[in-house]
Amino acid sequence: MRPPTTKKRQKPGRVILSARLNSYVELDLRADGTIAAAIDGDAIGLGKLSARAAKRAQDLKSGLPLDSLAAEGPDIGDEIERLVRRLAMHGLLEFPLGRSRDDDEVVIEPQVPNYWPRMPQLDEADMLALSRFAYMRRRGNDMILESPLAAALFRICNPKKIAVALALLSTPQPIKQLRQQDDSPGHELLALLVDCRIVFKIDSARGDGLRTGEGDDNLVLWDFHDLLFHARSTLGRHANPVGGLCPYAGLIAPLPAVRPAWTGKKIELGNISPAVSEEISAVTKVLRDRHSTRIFDDQRPITLSELARLLESVARIRARWENTLDFTDGGPVVSFASRPYPSGGASYPLELYLAVNKCDGLASGFYHYDADIHALVPIDARKEELEAHVAGAALAMGSHVAPQILITIAARFGRVSWKYSSIAYALILKDVGVLMQTLYVVLTDLGLGGCAIGTADISLFANMTGLEFHVEGPVGQFALGRGLPQAD
Ligand SMILES: Cc1cc2nc3c(=O)[nH]c(=O)nc-3n(C[C@H](O)[C@H](O)[C@H](O)COP(=O)(O)O)c2cc1C
Repeated sequence: MRPPTTKKRQKPGRVILSARLNSYVELDLRADGTIAAAIDGDAIGLGKLSARAAKRAQDLKSGLPLDSLAAEGPDIGDEIERLVRRLAMHGLLEFPLGRSRDDDEVVIEPQVPNYWPRMPQLDEADMLALSRFAYMRRRGNDMILESPLAAALFRICNPKKIAVALALLSTPQPIKQLRQQDDSPGHELLALLVDCRIVFKIDSARGDGLRTGEGDDNLVLWDFHDLLFHARSTLGRHANPVGGLCPYAGLIAPLPAVRPAWTGKKIELGNISPAVSEEISAVTKVLRDRHSTRIFDDQRPITLSELARLLESVARIRARWENTLDFTDGGPVVSFASRPYPSGGASYPLELYLAVNKCDGLASGFYHYDADIHALVPIDARKEELEAHVAGAALAMGSHVAPQILITIAARFGRVSWKYSSIAYALILKDVGVLMQTLYVVLTDLGLGGCAIGTADISLFANMTGLEFHVEGPVGQFALGRGLPQAD
């Protein structure tokens, strides 16, 4: 009788992280060695490549293992790495992770231009947990794992294995224990998830609470839906289409400008309010005159004195005081400051940052308005970033010309979320609407022009100011200047 054969457990192959061109991108290699990325008839120049590097670059179509670059030798490796990083900067790459070319475990899709996959060092004793900001959802036929904190999302190709691992991580696990699970996620995937803050290392110094153990105090104050709404409803931290693109125009008819009337008996109001038509108040006149101005008279820029009057009338702090909050066992003391416009809970979380392009009496540059002392304080932002910031606002107004001044309305999020659960971000956006209308009203009264802008690049602002996006960041913008008399 033959002894029973013991089945040898097959060692899984090595996982490979590659860079791969997005499916809609073609590389256009020209005879003179220049290379461009071709996308829907547009071309993005990517510099020059030697013949050998150009040949190797063709592998980006199916996937070029990142760790193979070093093996190419310093010259070719450096050339290809430069090309890959340039492609990544333009958001034209994805990064598959798998054991072979046709067996992706996940595909990493960068969400911010400077994303580069990194694998931080993880020790066996490290306790890992799933971030409370991470979520999985269906996108078309794919399952994706993402987070407003992440610089990239993960397209899950092996949901059975990865979903189980993520579910396990809803309670903190030491890495050592995770490894003992059948089908445990590999070290590389765990490290990539930690790098994207989808999984985090518990910081025992910050207590054993999962909420307080993730990130800094500013992050603790954010609710999941608020941070997701903030990151996904403007520019800078995701790679989805943004703005008036009418994606369902061919499918669904637009709603009419005016709501169809209810059928009840109408009470006409026209004859009951003669005051409006006969003798109009100054406020009513300003409201009638108010309109958006997107093109400015650069021969007659706004003056520093007009800007000072506008800021004083709209945003200057009028009074300061402290209150003890009414809790049963002695509440905390909270400071307050009143301003000309109303604010939910008298929180006043909004700050004004000014990118000054043309203002008579004030040097071009980037400033913070100190509403307490009614002063402008310069901020040393990089010139290219400031230009990109203003160009983005001009584009949002359908203009090629920068406004004379671009006001960025930024929120100190924690000022509201420290007190309000579930409604903090919604309250902040309501404050933004109130402030925008106050700006419109006062600038109309001063004979100036302006236009509200709904978007801002929250990553660019973070780079310009050094403020992290979850601490203080843009929630709206406003273009300001002297309008051309008839061009509005
Ligand atoms: C919250 C908000 C966001 C806006 N965003 C933009 C924008 O991004 N670009 C733009 O050109 N106008 C923007 N506007 C201005 C509106 O287009 C404008 O108010 C509307 O067309 C009505 O015109 P009026 O302001 O001249 O009466 C915005 C207005 C508001 C209130």
